[in-house]
Amino acid sequence: MNKLLQTSAAAMLCLSALSMQAQNTKLTLDLTKPGVAVSPMLYGLMTEEINYAYDGGLYGELIRNRSFRNNPTKPESWLLVSDGDAKSEIKLIGGNPQSVPRNEQGNAINEALTSCLLLTVEKPGTRSGIANLGYWGIPVRANTTYSASFYVKGAAQTLPPAFGRNNNNANNQTIVPIANNTAGPITVSIESPDGKTVYASGTVNLANTPFWKKYSLKLTTGNVTPTKDAHFVITTNRTGLYYFNLVSLFPPTFNNRPNGNRPDIMQKMVDMKPKFLRFPGGNFLEGPYLGDHFPWKTTLGPIDGRPGHTGSWGYRASDGLGLLEFLEWCEDVKMEPLLAVFAGYSLNRDHIDAGPLLAPYVQDALDEIEYVTGDVHTYWGAKRAADGHPAPFKMTYVEIGNEDWFDKTNSYDGRFNQFRAAINKKYPKLKCISTIDEKNYASLRVVTGPKPYMVDEHYYQNSWQMQEDAFRYDSYDRKTSPKIFVGEWATREGSPTTNLIAALGDAAWMTGMERNSDLVLASCYAPLFVNVNPKNDATGEPSGMQWASDLIGYNALNSYGSPAYYVQKMFNNNIGNHVVPVTATDLPMLHIDTAGKNPPRGRKQKPTRPSLYFVATKDSKTGMVYLKVVNTADHEQPATLDLKGASTVASVGSVVVLKGDHPEDTNSITDPEKIVPVTSQLSGVGKSFSHTFPAYSVSILRIKTNSAK
Ligand code: AHR
Repeated sequence: MNKLLQTSAAAMLCLSALSMQAQNTKLTLDLTKPGVAVSPMLYGLMTEEINYAYDGGLYGELIRNRSFRNNPTKPESWLLVSDGDAKSEIKLIGGNPQSVPRNEQGNAINEALTSCLLLTVEKPGTRSGIANLGYWGIPVRANTTYSASFYVKGAAQTLPPAFGRNNNNANNQTIVPIANNTAGPITVSIESPDGKTVYASGTVNLANTPFWKKYSLKLTTGNVTPTKDAHFVITTNRTGLYYFNLVSLFPPTFNNRPNGNRPDIMQKMVDMKPKFLRFPGGNFLEGPYLGDHFPWKTTLGPIDGRPGHTGSWGYRASDGLGLLEFLEWCEDVKMEPLLAVFAGYSLNRDHIDAGPLLAPYVQDALDEIEYVTGDVHTYWGAKRAADGHPAPFKMTYVEIGNEDWFDKTNSYDGRFNQFRAAINKKYPKLKCISTIDEKNYASLRVVTGPKPYMVDEHYYQNSWQMQEDAFRYDSYDRKTSPKIFVGEWATREGSPTTNLIAALGDAAWMTGMERNSDLVLASCYAPLFVNVNPKNDATGEPSGMQWASDLIGYNALNSYGSPAYYVQKMFNNNIGNHVVPVTATDLPMLHIDTAGKNPPRGRKQKPTRPSLYFVATKDSKTGMVYLKVVNTADHEQPATLDLKGASTVASVGSVVVLKGDHPEDTNSITDPEKIVPVTSQLSGVGKSFSHTFPAYSVSILRIKTNSAK
């Protein structure tokens, strides 16, 4: 047991029921010698398509179901516009690409764009057309230019004689009710749902052709009042058949990337200063069934060639945010990719045995790594260059699979080793991460060959459990344990984003990871994003959330960080390069107040816990000491802070504090900044000084010491 734990345990024995008693807490920071080095990759991000993270989230596209493949039976998210005495209708064509009725064949643009929307206008009335609802609305901002594009063909093609597959309905030819279209303008607009307010509008001149043609235009708003509730509308005042596909609308994106991301959410990540991005999952890597895993090859190139795929969280992924976009996201946020490769295991617990059957998947992973890291002389590096990014991406870690502990057949040992051998043969410097951690799943771990370089541990717990686990890594055996990657973790209290008590649980847990960052080399909170729109019973639109308790929330127009987001930002922005050992005396304790919810894997909870958690690091170049202290108690707590071995200490430092009045306090889309960190001057600093930590708070004290190690 290390010294901190001895102190904590002793305190537990003698200080039960003392939460309100006078206390003489002292934290001693030992600056006489540096503690363990802080891992340069300690804090990163984890992402997957969950909670409408990309489609309806980070990815800039505003049109939902842009290529009409989200639902095989109806044109979901699309409405008919039929004003005045119009006689018009819309119909999904080729909704199920596996079984396209004879009278709907001949309308694909390519293998990816196989379904489309037919607008039939027999009588245009005031206007006839189609409207897209967006992801719970199309957002409108003032003085903003949007890029719209879509494919249209303006007449039915003459069908070839029936042959080949899918000749069902061969005798069921639709009699086209009207003659061919006339060429001429159609109107494209962003407008209110009732059509009375037009925020931006333009026209394109349609050709009268039975062949697909792509049209593009810009739509610019004036000094309008922002709204999240608009529709995107394309209308005509002429009779005809209008086939639509790949209807797209982009607002300005971060760094003006074409096919890019939402600036507000990107900026939130930039502000966090994460070191890596774990992607593409999570469950999204694996997919529900074999064959549904992240299809990185069909996520490359122009969006016109991307079919999208099933997804793992109950909705289809457009894959508009594909492999290169993940990598450019890393580039924009200045973080490294940490790529998870599909390892032959799906969510329905099927697996592919190691051996020849697995070999194509191993090759696919090698190709994918080459796309990320290969130079332009490699096959996939050249493909990346052709896609617009000649420079390879730096990558240190690759993860083989996701949560393979669910596979109770023990197949992971063989699968992991087959991937690792091939990866390390071609990329000896790449470090392979196993998804099975040794402590929790001893019987399922990788046993063949050398220990995996790192193992991925996941923790989703309540605040009490996270606080208790702040000491977890203090006792890992440094000689026998592989390095740890905490690839998913979160304190799950509060929804859709987490609340203050969750943020305190997170912060307590992070003190443990930071103190042990010789062992815990990398960590990332999950899930990162949530679209906070609730289920709409009137329209049948589902909720944007599949997983409660997330870090960053948004609707179509605005985004906000949870208190936990600010904890992440505070921790990442205030960290040295080595740990300063801290010992505590008279550490205050709390009793558990309610029976623990959601106990992790049947673990019994301890009846008491400290109410202060802490870690200190120092930057050896600047001499800056960062002392992080979490006070989970409902009252302020004073402590004496001793800087043992400091030769000089600046009398003025600064302190950044996140706090709230109640454990359930939180941020939300309507109250986004209720709990945010506040920085203030810290005076009276010395080799020994006292400081009071507010109730329910996370404090980071920045203390300037002599710059010697
Ligand atoms: O983060 C949500 C899910 O939790 C991830 O997709 C999966 O890896 C884990 O079970």
